[in-house]
Amino acid sequence: MTAFKPLVFSGVQPTGNLHLGNYLGAIRRWVALQADHPCLFCVVDLHAITVWQEPADLERQIREVTAAFLASGIDAKKHILFNQSRVPEHAELAWIFNCIARLGWMNRMTQFKDKAGKDRENASLGLLAYPSLMAADILAYRATLVPVGEDQKQHLELTRDIAAKFNHDFADRIHDKGLGVPMTSIGDRESDDDTAQGYFPLTEPLIEGPATRIMSLKDGSKKMSKSDPSDLSRINLTDDADTISKKIRKAKTDPASLPSEPKGLAGRPEADNLVGIYAALADRTKAEILTEFGGRPFSEFKPVLADLAVEKLSPIADEMRRILADPAEIDRTLRDGAERARAIASQTLSDVKSIVGLLNN
Ligand code: TYM
Repeated sequence: MTAFKPLVFSGVQPTGNLHLGNYLGAIRRWVALQADHPCLFCVVDLHAITVWQEPADLERQIREVTAAFLASGIDAKKHILFNQSRVPEHAELAWIFNCIARLGWMNRMTQFKDKAGKDRENASLGLLAYPSLMAADILAYRATLVPVGEDQKQHLELTRDIAAKFNHDFADRIHDKGLGVPMTSIGDRESDDDTAQGYFPLTEPLIEGPATRIMSLKDGSKKMSKSDPSDLSRINLTDDADTISKKIRKAKTDPASLPSEPKGLAGRPEADNLVGIYAALADRTKAEILTEFGGRPFSEFKPVLADLAVEKLSPIADEMRRILADPAEIDRTLRDGAERARAIASQTLSDVKSIVGLLNN
């Protein structure tokens, strides 16, 4: 092999209602990436069970997230769409990565600290090892590009750390077995060694655009989240037009009118958030939006934002309902995707086993 091929991988947990943050920060950007790259999109059900999930809810949520992907424009025929647990190589590779990653790395993960809360002793072992499974998701395909929201940045850095340590610890074996790929070929911005080879790429996070961190509609200092107890804090992909309009009307703002340039949004998190949402939905920049709306009060901006959100999101909700009416077809799509994913992941696992010295002939 002469170079790592550009390949996109990303995933969403089936843990509850998908919201505008998931859509603008991730799924909508995946749809655009499909035009130029081979892509794998995954419903990460094994990650979901790191915290308790009611089994019947989990089944429903896996189908709902799949329907949301399809309704948003993910092409499951051209690309690969599947649920994680159907490809056992993810869990198998994660075990090997558990033996590469250091406990200190996991202990530093802010998402673990947030999710475990004060009662750390009672968190599942899976929650601590979560980032190692995420590295396995990505590296089972030796994916080079991972489009995510800002909150996943630390996990992606850890994915690079795992890849780098694996490449380093097994450098001789990788070389002897002829499985090395030049690290200059992609994703290794820091390397000044043209001869360095590795088995895994140092994956690039793609965290770009005006919507990498959509905030709660009720509190501009908290991110929009599935787990926020207030439904008014988020717009769900399944909300109807009236609900979307009501939530935007009730969104927290400050009393000033909109500034005419992005620097005027500093220290105004709620204003910044609503302008970012508008920009992302309209496929424009915050600067362009402020040139148009600068000086206008929120009482004028909110209705226009609500109309745009309804125009962009309602067709997705309608399409989701249509897709969900045929669960057997959703299951077929996931099975077919998993079969194609497995063909790639099983080759990686076979290489990794032979590199590590796990007899596999
Ligand atoms: P999850 O399920 O929490 O979120 C899915 C995607 O939505 C993005 N996101 C947001 N973006 C902007 N603003 C927000 N308020 C917001 N909330 C969520 C997330 O950044 C993510 O891109 N660990 C991942 C799932 C995962 C994964 C992977 C992702 C597992 N394996 C491999 C990429 C590659 C997660 O919990 O996402």
